[in-house]
Amino acid sequence: MNSHKHNISFSPESHAAVRLAEGAILSEHLTVENSPVLFGCRTAVCGTCLIEVLSEENGLLACPGEDEKELLEIIAPENPRARLACQIALAADIRIRYLGKA
Ligand code: FES
Repeated sequence: MNSHKHNISFSPESHAAVRLAEGAILSEHLTVENSPVLFGCRTAVCGTCLIEVLSEENGLLACPGEDEKELLEIIAPENPRARLACQIALAADIRIRYLGKA
């Protein structure tokens, strides 16, 4: 088991950074208490969890899968930093901004 940890920080800094284990699925750990990111379907369908990855250590996040890519082309076509938080497994320190609907 890999016990390496990574930080997720938020912009604006409405919440303290969250520290999670390598490979953690964001939608299983981010809550209304510890983050500004909201989730709906958790399956790359609704777009509620739309975020922008402002910085990422070493480009280690896995690329979006087909379902995520398809939805991002519809809801954030001009933003190359857009991702669906529900589809991200943590593999780097990241700084994110929530773009979905509150
Ligand atoms: S929660 Fe619906 S797309 Fe991520």
